[in-house]
Amino acid sequence: MKATSLSFLRCPASRCGQSPLTADVWARTQLPTGEDDVLEGLVSCADCGGSYPVVAGVLLLIEDLAGYLRDHLGVILHLTDFPPGEAMAQWLTSRAPDDTDARYVRRSMKLEERYVNAFLGAHYDRDRLAADPENPLSELMAAAVARDVWTRCSTLVDEVRPGSALDAGCSVGGLSATLSQRQARTIGFDTSFLSVLAARRAVLSGPTPLDAYRAYGEGDRYQEHGLTVAAQPRYADFVVASALAPTAAGPVDLTCAINLIDLVPDPARLLDTLVAQTNEGGHVLITSPYGWSDVARNRWLGGAAGQSSPDALRSAAADRGLRVAWEDRQVPWLWRDYSRFWRLHSVDAVLFVRT
Ligand SMILES: C[S@@+](CC[C@H](N)C(=O)[O-])C[C@H]1O[C@@H](n2cnc3c(N)ncnc32)[C@H](O)[C@@H]1O
Repeated sequence: MKATSLSFLRCPASRCGQSPLTADVWARTQLPTGEDDVLEGLVSCADCGGSYPVVAGVLLLIEDLAGYLRDHLGVILHLTDFPPGEAMAQWLTSRAPDDTDARYVRRSMKLEERYVNAFLGAHYDRDRLAADPENPLSELMAAAVARDVWTRCSTLVDEVRPGSALDAGCSVGGLSATLSQRQARTIGFDTSFLSVLAARRAVLSGPTPLDAYRAYGEGDRYQEHGLTVAAQPRYADFVVASALAPTAAGPVDLTCAINLIDLVPDPARLLDTLVAQTNEGGHVLITSPYGWSDVARNRWLGGAAGQSSPDALRSAAADRGLRVAWEDRQVPWLWRDYSRFWRLHSVDAVLFVRT
């Protein structure tokens, strides 16, 4: 966490947000931009007395920290390149529930690494991946990339020209990098620890640069591909946080939830949280393939009423004072799992303006 990011963040507990957060820094480093980066330490909220750890440069701004550590403690303790110091390892272990199962966590870390690499390819290397001459669908995929969700997002950001932004469910940070290139001060956040660590390494080069990623082939085989990230790292930072809780100290010009709303247990709450963090006259950008995996049907937008998801999103947004500024209900979103398995979604994309 950049030292300067503290003033842009708030305690995720809904009753807090009045007092600024403070940091007790245990280890620090300097990013290539010359900015001060907290590598390890504790961030505190004077309102509720809550403490949020920073590990390997990643702030865990999570209200239910114990619940988070149940799933992520092993991931963090077993980081090969950036393991926490002894005192931090003890602090984290003391905050995790007693029944935390480290074996389960190690297994999920392996899965997550693969997932993080797939997103690195999707965010930063999609032109090359889609142009694979051995793939019979390469022409179709190259055409999809030319008008895909990332191309659309870049155009929209150029039109909206936000001075500040939140990228909810940022994964490895591709959209935040695009926003930073346009000099929008951006906080990208995600609940996946390894994704946020990868975003910080790819975009900020901290704690160390991420120069390559794994493009998986058959089984466990992979090719290492060089990673080139276009960004202005001074304008971005990344933290672990939930999109269902407030993250920003004050409202921003643009809030984004790209391919996230159909994954959270309470989509209406996500919408409320995005709107609450958007300036009046600011914009909210939402895209989704509406898979609704693991979301109870009565929580889907339009699920209880039997309404189509795109219509339900627009009416839920209108109820919250959002007006459609631009929309396209069929935008390609291409995601490569491994060399023989691609997913091509057609996502609904809407840019709202907050009235
Ligand atoms: C389908 S991926 C989309 C990632 C990225 N926006 C993209 O379109 O490539 C969804 C992301 O949301 C994250 N996520 C899931 N629930 C979340 C939550 N409640 N708050 C923040 N991020 C969340 C996941 O870890 C994952 O990185």
